[in-house]
Amino acid sequence: MTVNSMQENQDMIAKNMMDRNIALEAVRVTEAAALAASRLVGRGDEKAADAAAVDAMRDALNSMSISGRVVIGEGERDEAPMLYIGEEVGAGGPEIDIALDPLEGTTITAKGGTNSIAVMAMADKDCFLNAPDTYMQKMAVGPSISPDVLDLDAPIADVLQKIAKEKNAQVEDLLVCVLDRPRHDDIIQGVRDAGARISLIGDNDVSAIIATTEPETGVDLYVGTGGAPEGVLAAAALQCVGGAMLGRLVFRNDDEKARADKWGITDYDRIYATDDLAKPDNVMFAATGVTNGNILQGVRRYGGGATTHSIVMRSKSGTVRHVKSTHNFTRKTGFTPSDE
Ligand code: FBP
Repeated sequence: MTVNSMQENQDMIAKNMMDRNIALEAVRVTEAAALAASRLVGRGDEKAADAAAVDAMRDALNSMSISGRVVIGEGERDEAPMLYIGEEVGAGGPEIDIALDPLEGTTITAKGGTNSIAVMAMADKDCFLNAPDTYMQKMAVGPSISPDVLDLDAPIADVLQKIAKEKNAQVEDLLVCVLDRPRHDDIIQGVRDAGARISLIGDNDVSAIIATTEPETGVDLYVGTGGAPEGVLAAAALQCVGGAMLGRLVFRNDDEKARADKWGITDYDRIYATDDLAKPDNVMFAATGVTNGNILQGVRRYGGGATTHSIVMRSKSGTVRHVKSTHNFTRKTGFTPSDE
């Protein structure tokens, strides 16, 4: 081995160790956001819950040894005071792009419903699509189904037939997850006409897409239109755990097209595959449950502390870790017993 290749080898080992540490540190960030939001579960105040999560996530990010740049964030600089797109975060270190949603499921949290999470993905520079804050048509399956079944333009009955064939099952056995919105009436009718079963959800299509990868949830297909930034977060998760999705931006007016123009998007009709939304090479994904969901348990609070349940995963290794943490507010900085 030459001196140069020995040095390259050592650099690679060091980068690998750094990536692993950053992934574990990422959990602390989503835990902080989830703990802060959990204080406001069911309080009927979406804005306050979101603000608490944003504050806590930003503080935690700024204590990480990274030079981070928010690529998917709380909105454009003039709309979001914190964690806006382009904001630089971290205490200095490797250059990392960040996609985040401190509170995915603000309405769920405000109502005390199920499935709200704090979520963040990190990757090497320029690995995430600069998705504008518009809607995105999405379709996703878990790793046991071939990505070839995905088709945003085919009748939903055809997609279901293909999945059923791959699973050696009947269409009637399949479970399709859809956001419960009037804009999805045709899809819902199409799924019902085909004979498949439906799980209608109120919010959080990031979790819904991850649910397709987890056999215990029973979800075979996610389909529908939700936020484009959430599409990037979901793709980051799929790069770690397996599965595939397609996405196509949906514009309701010229202002939304102008948002896309700003990020250099010229083909408004482009269909994005998982790799176009989040490049596969070096993605990390972390999420912590705020309220109970089908992937993660919510924060449990008690006198002087709380427990959290998180998932953290890396595309490089494919390792998926479930992290249960006990937090002692009498010792932890940033929390006081009066938080209770
Ligand atoms: P927020 O938590 O930011 O409110 O987003 C929740 C969510 O349900 C996303 O998961 C989804 O992509 C999007 O909103 C759907 O948008 P809409 O509520 O406008 O249908």
